[in-house]
Amino acid sequence: MKRSTVFNCTLLQLPRISTPGGNITAINNGIEIPFDVQRVYYLYDVPGGESRGGHAHKILEQVIIAASGSFDLQIDDGKVKRTFTLSRPYMGVYMPAGLWRELDNFSSGAICLVLASEEYDAADYIREYSEFKNYKHEV
Ligand code: TYD
Repeated sequence: MKRSTVFNCTLLQLPRISTPGGNITAINNGIEIPFDVQRVYYLYDVPGGESRGGHAHKILEQVIIAASGSFDLQIDDGKVKRTFTLSRPYMGVYMPAGLWRELDNFSSGAICLVLASEEYDAADYIREYSEFKNYKHEV
């Protein structure tokens, strides 16, 4: 998605079911999120001060959730930057394809849960920022 911008990202408030024993958040394809989940992965044991995810995807859409702890999600469309601080398991950020992302400021014990629209494909990554800038300008 060469034309996507940071304004196409959405902060999602996910449903919360409260029980005396704790809370539950359930996410269904096409209901709380606008795509079908093909893959789930999570980042954990991130060392203090480490940043992750300096890349963009050409096709992949994602929802990113702080399942535990907190971190900052920095999104860049080549022109405008936007930061979401995620710290609640019932909040998520929907990201369309074609945006550069970085994750940093992980709290200790943070878990970054990612719901992804495609299986893993190394060819879908843009890992060089200069290549990303060229990609966004090729519209
Ligand atoms: P990468 O996406 O580069 O991590 P991050 O951008 O969060 O720092 O992935 C790190 C490594 O894990 C890389 O070798 C690819 C591998 N990987 C998979 O094999 N499957 C996956 O679903 C993901 C997300 C990564």
